[in-house]
Amino acid sequence: MEKEMVGPIAFVYPIPIVLIGSMVAGKANFAEIGDCALAGINPALVVVSINENHYTTFGIREHRCFSLNFPTTQRLKAVDYCGNHSGKEVDKSTLFEIEPGQNPLCPLIAEFPVNLECEVIHDHQIEHRHLYVAKVTQTHIAKNLISREKGKIHFPDLRMLDPILYGLDNAYYTVGEKIGTSGA
Ligand SMILES: Cc1cc2nc3c(=O)[nH]c(=O)nc-3n(C[C@H](O)[C@H](O)[C@H](O)COP(=O)(O)O)c2cc1C
Repeated sequence: MEKEMVGPIAFVYPIPIVLIGSMVAGKANFAEIGDCALAGINPALVVVSINENHYTTFGIREHRCFSLNFPTTQRLKAVDYCGNHSGKEVDKSTLFEIEPGQNPLCPLIAEFPVNLECEVIHDHQIEHRHLYVAKVTQTHIAKNLISREKGKIHFPDLRMLDPILYGLDNAYYTVGEKIGTSGA
């Protein structure tokens, strides 16, 4: 395959889209993020990279916690709004049905199928970005999407979660077909 060198681009794809929730000045605020990764299963760790000037950063700095809310494609418009408007200028607390987490400082979007409550354990500042490494302290999954067999939880098919994916072509995508099972 003939390649071209295009310089240093963090071309990691596809990018799952998440709304990060935080409490700022007593209100819930949500920002769209693509820079969110699983950082370990046991202990359950995630890492997010947030611009220091975002309204979100003020909330995380103060409370050392945040929520990660996984949207479905039906709410793409509201999600994109959260990525193009700052809580510094608009009130994003009324866009969704919200409920407090086990930690009331982690606002959860009730209508999204999955929400994580996260506690910051490291804050690495690199230029204008904060890389927050966080422990997942609680996970909320829609009841109708999980089943239990002999005490073991079965997690849903990715297509049922209907996540929003993003590409570096600035476009949003939905997931396609299942093509295999690991270890089979
Ligand atoms: C597709 C998309 C992905 C984004 N990913 C990130 C991200 O990973 N980190 C970040 O700091 N900002 C990201 N942003 C920008 C913020 O969502 C945006 O600046 C938002 O207005 C910040 O909101 P806040 O000021 O209320 O915190 C993204 C925006 C879009 C449209």
